[in-house]
Amino acid sequence: MLIHAITADVTYEFASEVRAGLTREGQKELPSKYLYDDVGSALFEVISHLPEYGLTRADARLLRRYADEIVDRVAGPVAVAELGSGSGKKTRWLLQALCRRQRTSYYPVEISRSALAMCERELRDIDAISILGFEREYLDGLLEVAARRKEGQHLFVLFLGSTIGNFDRPAGVKFLSEIRRTLEPGDSLLLGTDLLKPVEQLLRAYDDDLGVTAAFNLNLLARINRELDADFELSEFAHQARINREARRVEMHLVSKRRQSVRVPAANIVVEFLEGESVWTESSHKYTAEEIFETARRAGFRCQAQWIDEEWPFAENLLVAE
Ligand SMILES: C[S@@+](CC[C@H](N)C(=O)[O-])C[C@H]1O[C@@H](n2cnc3c(N)ncnc32)[C@H](O)[C@@H]1O
Repeated sequence: MLIHAITADVTYEFASEVRAGLTREGQKELPSKYLYDDVGSALFEVISHLPEYGLTRADARLLRRYADEIVDRVAGPVAVAELGSGSGKKTRWLLQALCRRQRTSYYPVEISRSALAMCERELRDIDAISILGFEREYLDGLLEVAARRKEGQHLFVLFLGSTIGNFDRPAGVKFLSEIRRTLEPGDSLLLGTDLLKPVEQLLRAYDDDLGVTAAFNLNLLARINRELDADFELSEFAHQARINREARRVEMHLVSKRRQSVRVPAANIVVEFLEGESVWTESSHKYTAEEIFETARRAGFRCQAQWIDEEWPFAENLLVAE
C-alpha cells in the first residue's frame, strides 16, 4: 500500500491543542484524536477483544452477516473510502463482497500511521483490491479520495465502529453534512452507531477489569510526556468512565489524585490540578435506532436501510446522499 503522509508540523499542532485544552476555564479537555498514537492504536485493538466491550464484535457480526445485502444496495461502480479505519479487520467482509462484483480501490483515511499500516497488512490479500492509504484527518483524506473519483464512479464511504459517537449530537450532524458536501447524489455512507443500553453495561465497556481502557486513556498523558517533554506522574491520575444521562453519552476522564502542578515545556505551560479535578479525554454518544433517520436527513442523506444486532444493540445504517 502506498501511504500519503502529512509533512505539516504535527508536534506544533499537538502542543497548541494541549495548551488550549489544559488552560481553558472550567473543565480541562483534550481532543480524543490524540489517544491514537502507536501505543494507543495497539491498545484499542486489545480493547476490541475485551469481553466487556461488545461494540466491535457487534459491528463485525453485522458486516459479516449482511455484507452482500449492503453491497447490493450500493450504486456502482464504487471506490471505497474508510474514515478512521483502525486495523480494518471488519472491513474485510464488505471489501470481499464488493470485489466479487468489481475491481475495488480502497482508501483508508487514518490519523494513526501504525493503524494504517495494520490495515494494509490485514486487507492486502483480498483479490481484486488496490489499497491507497492517507495519513490524514477525516475530511482532508476524504477530499483527496474525492479528487481521485473517475468518470461515472460513485463513492462508498465507511464510518464504522460508532466513531461518530465521539462527536456530540450537533457536531455529529455538522460532520455528516461536511461528508455530504464532498459527495455526489447517489453516493453512499455506511454509518455504524452504538445504541443506548443499560448504564452498568456501558460503564463496564469503558472501564474493564483488566485495566486496558485505563491504560489507553492514561497513554494520552504518557504521549504528552514523550512528545512534549511534560512531567505527568501517571500514577497520580486515575481513569474514570462517567455516564452523562442528559447527553446520552459515556465520558472518559483522567482524575488528578491530589493537588499538583505539571510542566509541559513544549506547550510553554505549567498546569495546576486540584485534587479530584479531571481532564475530559473522550465522549461516546449512544443513539436510538429511530433518531438516525432524522440525523441523516438533517445532514442531507436518506437512511435507506438499517441492520441491528440484538446481542449487543448496535446499528449499521446505509445512508444515501440526496
Ligand atoms: C474508535 S477507533 C475505530 C477504529 C475502527 N473504525 C473500528 O471500528 O474498530 C477510531 C479510529 O479513528 C482514527 N481517528 C481518530 N480521529 C481521527 C481523525 N480526526 N482523523 C482521522 N482518523 C482519526 C483513530 O486513529 C482510530 O483508528
